[in-house]
Amino acid sequence: MGRYQDAFTQAAEDPDTFWLGAARGVDWVHEPTRALDDHHAPIYRWFPDGTLNTSYNALDRHVAAGNGDRPALIWDSAMTGASRTYTYAELLDEVARFAGVLSATGVASGDRVIIYLPMIPEAAIAMLACARIGAVHSVVFGGFAAPELAARIIDADPVAVVTASGGLEPGRTVDYLPIVAAALELADAASTTVVVKDRPEIPGAAADHGGWLDWDEQLATATSTPPVTVAATDPLYILYTSGTTGKPKGVVRDNGGHAVALTWSMSNVYDIHAGDVWWTASDVGWVVGHSYIVYAPLFAGATTVMYEGKPVGTPDAGAFWRVIDEHHVKALFTAPTAIRAIRKADPDATELRRYDVSSLRTLFAAGERLDPETFTWAGTVLGVPVVDHWWQTETGWAIVANLRGLEPMPLKAGSPTVPVPGFVVEVVDADGTPVGAGDEGNILVRLPLPPGTLTGLWNDEDRFRSSYLRAFDGYYLTGDTGYRDRDGYVVVLGRSDDVINVAGHRFSTGSFEAVVASHPAVAECAVIGIHDDIKGQRPSGYVVLKAGVDIDSDVLRDELVTRVRDEIGSVATFRDVTVVPALPKTRSGKILRKTMRQIADHEEYTVPSTVEDATVVEALAQQLGG
Ligand code: COA
Ligand code: AMP
Repeated sequence: MGRYQDAFTQAAEDPDTFWLGAARGVDWVHEPTRALDDHHAPIYRWFPDGTLNTSYNALDRHVAAGNGDRPALIWDSAMTGASRTYTYAELLDEVARFAGVLSATGVASGDRVIIYLPMIPEAAIAMLACARIGAVHSVVFGGFAAPELAARIIDADPVAVVTASGGLEPGRTVDYLPIVAAALELADAASTTVVVKDRPEIPGAAADHGGWLDWDEQLATATSTPPVTVAATDPLYILYTSGTTGKPKGVVRDNGGHAVALTWSMSNVYDIHAGDVWWTASDVGWVVGHSYIVYAPLFAGATTVMYEGKPVGTPDAGAFWRVIDEHHVKALFTAPTAIRAIRKADPDATELRRYDVSSLRTLFAAGERLDPETFTWAGTVLGVPVVDHWWQTETGWAIVANLRGLEPMPLKAGSPTVPVPGFVVEVVDADGTPVGAGDEGNILVRLPLPPGTLTGLWNDEDRFRSSYLRAFDGYYLTGDTGYRDRDGYVVVLGRSDDVINVAGHRFSTGSFEAVVASHPAVAECAVIGIHDDIKGQRPSGYVVLKAGVDIDSDVLRDELVTRVRDEIGSVATFRDVTVVPALPKTRSGKILRKTMRQIADHEEYTVPSTVEDATVVEALAQQLGG
């Protein structure tokens, strides 16, 4: 463990030297002389005297270095059959002109811009254009319904919304404009500037909405805008994620730490360098898409593939292999869910034989636990290392990984390997005492977190402190549990809070419960995450009806499913509803979610001594066949 151990030790003991070294991978306007600012511990800042521009680092500097003709972004749409390659010079031109569009509509440095776009190049262009003028983007995943979009609009208070006429899902189109209009109405922000990319497949026409601007028309007459200089500590984006309550948390990322960490990660974690073709099969609406579809590969001067489609059904389980073959992808990063979906549809990987995937060197997986069966299957059929790594929206890049560029280590099924330099990971019990090798506990990261991690929650320092910093003094609470084995490998087992992970997407059970409980027939409810063979987990609702209510259970289920789709979005995949006579609770009224989950998953279940009425647990076990 020479190179890894040296890097890990230096990052832990002398972070200034380590991170100022890494900062040399970034082009600064004013190069920082200090790395860590600990004046306001436990809230830290990185590179306090550095100034730069993020879009300059992603685009201009590669063009200035003579690499303008190198492909920057390949858009491949399995939904339309279209494909388009942007060179660095072309992408820079579009970004600089769209930055001009935003400036002309009055967006200034520090203003927020909501980006609600499907997987089309305009999503990356809009993000980079915001970065160019110092505006703070907040991308909202296209599968979220109007109330979720509205919640983000209310919190971020944007001066503009950038959207498209719609998204393409297998067998249907999703019209975005009515969703945007409804969200603006709900947020009492109807006068916000809206720019619409009209997709030929979904003619939506901005003109139908008084005053909304057409992307193409605006771009045609726009003036290119140069990058503005921002402080390293200025916010680059806000990305909302689920917490334990229904209200999403606005994770804030800075400019400088983000550029340094992501640049370092491309070579050291992923072994990807300028000119390599890199594909992250996720969505720009998630952190994986922010970091590894848009920013990191462009910082590195690599070619990023942006894929609009699914792993299966668009048109078949060979979709991923086609993209690797056509674009000579060197490394693919996706969620285990996608691999499980491919395996289910094509267990013998017969589709793989139709393609030449010899360019592929590594398959990276994150977003949820990589189960050993999927790890083994993918490694066997592809014949390349399958590398799990663990991270979160909050951290923005990997906490634990097998560092393929720095020093590859033996892979172990079920473990994402070791802490990445900068992340000092500890596993502790409920009192904060470190546990021994192999013993499960709360996974913490010692403060300060390295560059590139969250600087706070938008407009809510108290929630930032209470969610992450207060539980264990001097540590960041990841919310995950797990253990370290005798070799120091970390194993992540799952969340210790009410967050569930559906196909690598994070939801709070509280937000489902708020919707379910609003149904007039429902007296009380619990929504828990249960095991799903493909998606890892799926939400499952248990409802107690109000006294005297007589409603057919299928009708109730359909109504609740519709409500969740309308309030949260289709991507929540809420389909299971079970009517129960009572919910098992503690004497203080807390629902026994863990016991319920164990019963629903047909595991051996535990009943805490604080149970209010053990017969309710027994009845539930009998009803669910546990
Ligand atoms: N916009 C609008 N709707 C969307 C959407 C988007 N961007 N993405 C998904 N949806 C909708 C789907 O149309 C579907 O709606 P339906 O219930 O009307 O059919 C619903 O949300 C669930 O979609 P999806 O999650 O794609 O599930 P699926 O069962 O259709 O497909 C998989 C299963 C495994 C193929 C799919 O979940 C997948 O590709 N997962 C990988 C996820 C991923 O990349 N995660 C990375 C996070 S790092
Ligand atoms: P998100 O913020 O949506 O990226 O979700 C982060 C959560 O997903 C983490 O807190 C984990 O619970 C889970 N997760 C992400 N990657 C992994 C992984 N490689 N192994 C296990 N769990 C993971």
